[in-house]
Amino acid sequence: MTQDMIDRAEATMRKNDRGHYTVPTHGLYPFQWNWDSALSALGFSRFDEDRAWTEVETLFAHQWDDGMVPHIIFHQHDDGYFPGPDVWGTGREVPTTGITQPAVAGYSVHQLYRRAQDRDAAERRARALLPKIHAWHEWFYRARDPEGTGLVAIIHPWESGRDNSVDWDAAFERVPTEGVMPFKRRDTQHANPEHRPTQAQYERYIWLVQHFRGLDWDNSKLHDASPFRIVDPGFNAILIRACSELADLARQLGENDIAAQSQAYAERGIAAMESLWSDKRGQYLCFDRVTAELVDNPSSGGLLASFAAIPAHRARAVAETIARWGEKVTYLVPSQDPESPDFDSLRYWRGPVWLVVNYMIANGLERAGETKVADRIVADSLRLIEESGFAEYYSPLDAEPCGGGSFTWTAAMVIEFLTRETQS
Ligand code: GLC
Repeated sequence: MTQDMIDRAEATMRKNDRGHYTVPTHGLYPFQWNWDSALSALGFSRFDEDRAWTEVETLFAHQWDDGMVPHIIFHQHDDGYFPGPDVWGTGREVPTTGITQPAVAGYSVHQLYRRAQDRDAAERRARALLPKIHAWHEWFYRARDPEGTGLVAIIHPWESGRDNSVDWDAAFERVPTEGVMPFKRRDTQHANPEHRPTQAQYERYIWLVQHFRGLDWDNSKLHDASPFRIVDPGFNAILIRACSELADLARQLGENDIAAQSQAYAERGIAAMESLWSDKRGQYLCFDRVTAELVDNPSSGGLLASFAAIPAHRARAVAETIARWGEKVTYLVPSQDPESPDFDSLRYWRGPVWLVVNYMIANGLERAGETKVADRIVADSLRLIEESGFAEYYSPLDAEPCGGGSFTWTAAMVIEFLTRETQS
C-alpha cells in the first residue's frame, strides 16, 4: 500500500517534469512556481537526487540582480494562464513575475544536502546555491523590512502563497480597482469558479500588479508605495526557518559570515514574532503595516508559524488550537478556523486543506515535541490521498478534491510523509 502510494506520487511528479523544472499541474499552472519547486525538490530527493538539485538551481538561475527570486518563471509561452508575461512587464529575457513567494528554498537545500548519497555533488551544488539563497534573504530584510523590525511584509497576496485568505480581506478594501485593464481570467476555465478567488479579488490583484509595474518593479520603492503591506506569520516563519537552516549549512561549508548573518536574522525574527501572538486566538496573527494593527483572523498562516523554532509554550498552544479545530473537521489542517463565519470548505485558501501547509506545520510541531497533533496531521494527509488522489487541495469536511488534479507538490509531500524520519 505504502509503496504503491509512493509509486503513484513519483509518477505524478514525473508527469509534470519539464526536464529542468516542474509545473505545479498541467493546464491551470503551466510554468515554474517558486515555493512549489522548493517543496517539490524534497520529493525528488527521495528518488532522483540529481533532479532535486536541478529544480532549485533552475529557480535561482532566474534570480534578479537585487536578490529577489520571482514567484513565477515563464519558461515557455502558454495562453492558458492569466496574468502572463505581458501583464507583468518585468522586461526580463526569460520573463518572470515581479513579486516573490515564501522562502522555502533555504530549508530544502539543507535537507537535500543532509540526505545526499553523492556527497561530492552535494557539496559542490550546495556551495554554489548558498550565496544565492543568502542574497535572497538579504533582499527580504532590506526591501521588505526597511525599518528593521525583524519581520518582512508581503506587498501582494500572491506572495504569501495563500492567495485569497480571509487574512487579506480588510486590507484589500484599501486597494482600488479604478483603471484596472479589462481582462479575461483563465483559472476559472480550468477549475470550478466556486472554488477559486472572486472577480473582485482578481481586479485588486491586477491593480497591484499594474501599480508596481508603473514603478518599474523598483524594489527600493515598492514596499512603501504599496497600499497592501502585511506581515504574515507563516511567511515569516518560513523565512526564519530557512535562515536558521542556511546558517547550519553555511557552518558545515565553512562559510562563517553567511552563517553568522543568517543566525542573526533567525534570532531577531523569532524574537519579533512574539509581537504577532494572540492569546485570545491561541495562534499568531497577521499585522497590517498600513494601519499598524493586528488582523484578528484565525487562518492557518498563524499556525504555520510553528515551522520556525518558536518558544515551546507557543508551540503547545498552537497544537491545542489545531486539536480544537480538529474536533470540527474530518481532515486537518483547514486554512481557516472551521468555526469562523468566513470559513468556506471549498474556496481555495478560505477553508480547504493544503498538503504543503500540513507538511510544514507537522514538521515544526514534531520538532517542538508536539507529536500527537503532528501525527494526526500526517495521518489525515495520507487519508486525503487515499480518498481523493493527488489534488491541489481538499475539503476538510469530506475530502472533496478541488482545483487542479495530478498536483506536483501534493505528490512530493506524500513522498515526504511516507519516508518521514525523525525530524531534527
Ligand atoms: C496558487 C497557490 C500558490 C501556488 C500556486 C501554484 O496560486 O495559491 O500557493 O504556489 O497556485 O501551485
